[in-house]
Amino acid sequence: MSVPQTLSLRGGATMPAIGLGVYQSTGDEAVRAVESAIAQGYRLIDTAAAYGNEAEVGAGIRASGIACDDIFVTTKLKPDDYGEESALRAFERSEKALGVGVIDLYLLHWPMPKRFDDTVASWQVMERLLAEGRVRAIGVCNFNPDHLEMLAERCEQAPVLNQVELHPFLVQENVRAANAARGIVTQAWSPIGGVNRYWDSGEDPLTHPTIVTLAEAHGKSPAQIVLRWHLERGVSAIPKSVRPERIAENIALFDFALSPDEVAAIDTLDQGRRGGPDPDAR
Ligand SMILES: NC(=O)c1ccc[n+]([C@@H]2O[C@H](COP(=O)([O-])OP(=O)(O)OC[C@H]3O[C@@H](n4cnc5c(N)ncnc54)[C@H](OP(=O)(O)O)[C@@H]3O)[C@@H](O)[C@H]2O)c1
Repeated sequence: MSVPQTLSLRGGATMPAIGLGVYQSTGDEAVRAVESAIAQGYRLIDTAAAYGNEAEVGAGIRASGIACDDIFVTTKLKPDDYGEESALRAFERSEKALGVGVIDLYLLHWPMPKRFDDTVASWQVMERLLAEGRVRAIGVCNFNPDHLEMLAERCEQAPVLNQVELHPFLVQENVRAANAARGIVTQAWSPIGGVNRYWDSGEDPLTHPTIVTLAEAHGKSPAQIVLRWHLERGVSAIPKSVRPERIAENIALFDFALSPDEVAAIDTLDQGRRGGPDPDAR
């Protein structure tokens, strides 16, 4: 199936389907990764206040020679900063650290259901930032369907995007369906199972025989097979790498396709197993 290189967000913005993640990218390495990604055609960079590298992301974008306005920048409000006044101050710190003008997409980093009043207060700050044109779109991360409902009951704006852990071992079909029903784009974090390698020392999706066999059949890498699977399912993905050759590999996804049977074969690898934190735990 052919897949679009961009996705439309409710409200009118257009976002590249593939972007660069920068969790654990630090210092000059982060600056160079962003610069390299932009040189290789990336136009979406995903960072967060919690990653401590917004300044490096901004420096990489400015060094790229491409206008800041042509790069779609996502950053996130960390739970420590939830609350009416603290959220606004944290936003202003992110805005200053990035130094790229208007932030394209501002996300709540975790739902924090055990202190949801703070989540609601933070979302209301984000609604105001949107109304004032200080961000172009607002969304959430790690929201289960019940968290989306809790937000809808108390807030005016619905998120345009929900970024969740999603890879072949955690397919999150219920979350994808709930997002779709609300017109919310699903975006995969750890799209190539990074979390299975750096936290969860279990199996790695990139070495699973189904993925390796498909990679051999298509003459592509395991990462490219998994990333193409996300695109075939209408899911945005933000693979992280600091290595130029992998950064290039992770966006070279548009000269081959997976058949519906091949997509379904990867769907069956789901183990419902999280590598990252449970969104209900805090
Ligand atoms: N919202 C949230 O709560 C949340 C949580 C986690 C992550 N995120 C976002 O999602 C992004 C991606 O997730 P992630 O960093 O957890 O994991 P990932 O992108 O699935 O995997 C990244 C890991 O895979 C390696 N890698 C990259 N390309 C590869 C390739 N082609 N072949 C083999 N290995 C490859 C990277 O190492 P090298 O760098 O050495 O290449 C890195 O160790 C993050 O960077 C961050 O922006 C969001």
